Amino acid sequence: MSGIKIRGTGRFAPAKIVTNDDLAKIVDTSDEWITTRTGIQTRHHCTTETHTDMCVGAARQALENAGISPEDIGACVVATFSSDYLSPSAACMVQRGLGLPHDAVCFDLNAACSGFLFAIHTMECLLAQAPRKYGLVIGAEMLSRFINWEDRGTCVLFGDGAGAVVVEWREDYPSIHAVLGCHGDPDMLGVTGAEKPEPARIFMHGQPTFKFAVKAVPYCIDQVLEKAHMTIEDVDFFVFHQANARIIDFAAKKYHIPPEKYYKNIQKYGNTSAASIPLVISELHDLGKVGPGSRVLLVGFGGGLTWGGALVEFA
Ligand code: UT7
Repeated sequence: MSGIKIRGTGRFAPAKIVTNDDLAKIVDTSDEWITTRTGIQTRHHCTTETHTDMCVGAARQALENAGISPEDIGACVVATFSSDYLSPSAACMVQRGLGLPHDAVCFDLNAACSGFLFAIHTMECLLAQAPRKYGLVIGAEMLSRFINWEDRGTCVLFGDGAGAVVVEWREDYPSIHAVLGCHGDPDMLGVTGAEKPEPARIFMHGQPTFKFAVKAVPYCIDQVLEKAHMTIEDVDFFVFHQANARIIDFAAKKYHIPPEKYYKNIQKYGNTSAASIPLVISELHDLGKVGPGSRVLLVGFGGGLTWGGALVEFA
């Protein structure tokens, strides 16, 4: 046995709030369409804030919440595809911003909306070898920089934000039993890349992505529970990637998860890709819905296509 538990959480959302009515003034959409199809009411967009500000803000709060000082951190992994620079990485900017030790292993990882799952699994593996047993796992996205304002099917969905957790690795902690996967597909959902002459922009085929999501979520839940030798009843809380309220409600209904065991904040933040899961975790922690001893099942899915699940405990 060996693994990680969450010791502290933090989050950062930029100040500017964009409502559905704000969007209806610039594209052919309505509050009614966005709310009923997605559950989104508002999203945050960066104006003066940078991606680095969001990462450092969320990570600082997580460290304070955990009562851990920066010099105790052995590794920092940021899940993102929208950082301020292609290089240096967002994690290097967090090292600088918080004064993490120079030998802390700091790097970014891109698994789109499943990124936080890939990052927390990577952290569990990394800390086993690290001299210091605390790690920072951050999910952060500044998706407003990639919005295609010509496409009403996607421009209403995405927002900016960051969430962070401090984890502790111990020999007597259980593994998070991560289940991760990908199916390379350059056409379904993504951000146009360097080969395009025009600026990078988000693209998505909504309906097939929705169909992929409603298969990926049960797959991840079943696989994680099987790996952990647990049942649905052993889980205290479920945290789903916030892509569409209908996907979350579908999963809750399929597994008979009562309303007090899952949570949505998509109405406030929209889809923040890799940031969505740690934003939920941080809010739940502040609300006292999760805390020491809680077992939380995380499920992510998104561009790549990628998917991931894990069962994370709070210390
Ligand atoms: O985070 C990564 C994973 N992402 C996901 O899992 C997202 C999965 N997909 C979805 O959540 C949904 O497919 C969307 C919310 C993106 C779209 O909802 P939908 O129910 O699948 O709508 P649709 O794309 O089939 O479009 C239905 C209609 C179309 O009009 P017609 O052809 O029926 O006349 C669209 O043109 O809605 C129209 N439409 C809009 N109307 C008003 C599309 N976007 C908008 C809009 N406002 N913003």
